[in-house]
Amino acid sequence: MSDIYQRIYQRKKMTAEDAMGLVEDGDFISVPTGVGEPPTLLTALSEQRQRFHGVTVGQILPLRKYAYFDPETVDNVRHLAFFFGGASRPGGKEGWIDFLPSYFSEMPSLITNRQIRVDVVFTMASPMDEHGYFSISLGTDYTMAAISMARVVILEVNPNVPFTNGNCHVHISQIAGFVESDDPVLEVGLPQIGPVQEAIGEYVTDIIDDGSTLQIGYGAIPDAVVMQLVHKHDLGIHTEMIGDGILKLLECGAVTNRKKTYLPGKMVATFALGSQQLYRFMNRNPMLEMHPVDYTNDPFLAARNDKLVTINATLQVDLIGQCCSESFGPQSYSGTGGQVDFVRAANRSRDGKSFIVLPATAKGDTISRIVPALTAGAHVTTSKNDVNYVVTEYGLAQLRGKSAKQRAQALIGIAHPDFRGELTEAARKLKLM
Ligand code: COA
Repeated sequence: MSDIYQRIYQRKKMTAEDAMGLVEDGDFISVPTGVGEPPTLLTALSEQRQRFHGVTVGQILPLRKYAYFDPETVDNVRHLAFFFGGASRPGGKEGWIDFLPSYFSEMPSLITNRQIRVDVVFTMASPMDEHGYFSISLGTDYTMAAISMARVVILEVNPNVPFTNGNCHVHISQIAGFVESDDPVLEVGLPQIGPVQEAIGEYVTDIIDDGSTLQIGYGAIPDAVVMQLVHKHDLGIHTEMIGDGILKLLECGAVTNRKKTYLPGKMVATFALGSQQLYRFMNRNPMLEMHPVDYTNDPFLAARNDKLVTINATLQVDLIGQCCSESFGPQSYSGTGGQVDFVRAANRSRDGKSFIVLPATAKGDTISRIVPALTAGAHVTTSKNDVNYVVTEYGLAQLRGKSAKQRAQALIGIAHPDFRGELTEAARKLKLM
């Protein structure tokens, strides 16, 4: 570390208490996705929330339930969900947490066009390098855009945060200050994979060619697909989330990134969610670049990968292929995230394939997730015009280029057998048969 940056570093080091002194009433604080959230700063904000008025914290996928998630103090500090997670979902259900609909790829432009006004950024960061740069590798997402617009940028510098390549660096001259912490970065384990997820994984893996470039979404089924790709060759990665599944594919040699037609030899992502092993792997690894989400999820850029394969989960699909992946009726459950960005990217990619995956039923086989019409008020995530492959444990329905009637027939064919009769009856009433 050069002397000059070392001197500035010592000057900008502060306590969490001092950092809170930089927040003003009415401020909008932008926090990165998932494990990029800075626990020391958010704990201090929670503890001192009574002294603020009208402060909003905007974030995708909060992971810890900080004390500011409190219906009694929403006039002091409130959360705005860019995407609900376990910590924010109860507030959404009870109505004291609002949400902001958006494609993940467009969040940086919402910020730079001032449709979301960011005053303050709180983010985890790696230690500073000798040139005065920190890496915000865990959640690069919309945070680089937020940093470019904010009045105050405060880092939580932690030696366990990897320093990565890509466009994910913040210079010490850009920040108002930082606090230090050294707890391990939060680990998020792989979900439970059962026979249903495995069966879906098999249908998908069967039609993934060697040399494909992958985007792997969030949830148990995308992870189940990954586990079954270990026998493939020369796969590449262009994704939004890097997790342990991808690490396993690298370790077994299935991912080489060599056949990628865009950024060959490199894999790109915008946020990380996984184990300490993953975070260590990311550190100064020339194979990986972390970039803002308007780069990773730009459908036109991602589509420059031939054979782009995207795998994302949904909650409910209707008979013409509209997918609700984020709500139960009008009640938000998660968010749009990058699903549509990557479905559209796969549609544009030469020989690309987008897979929307779901178990055929929910609630112990009592509810079909393939339905004549989405539940009233459901939030449509992937539209009928974008959707291509829909996959359940009963098979695979290919929808692009197919008429409404052909789609209904194909989707009924992959519904649970117990529901096919009533779905056929409903399709007749809807003139879809
Ligand atoms: N009716 C009633 N309950 C339903 C249901 C339905 N139609 N569909 C699902 N459920 C229940 C499930 O039974 C499960 O309940 P449980 O937690 O009690 O077991 C719960 O809802 C979650 O469903 P599951 O299929 O296990 O979800 P998941 O954890 O695999 O996540 C999404 C799936 C769709 C919510 C998640 O992938 C998502 O938010 N996607 C949108 C964003 C996206 O794809 N981004 C791109 C990649 S990061």
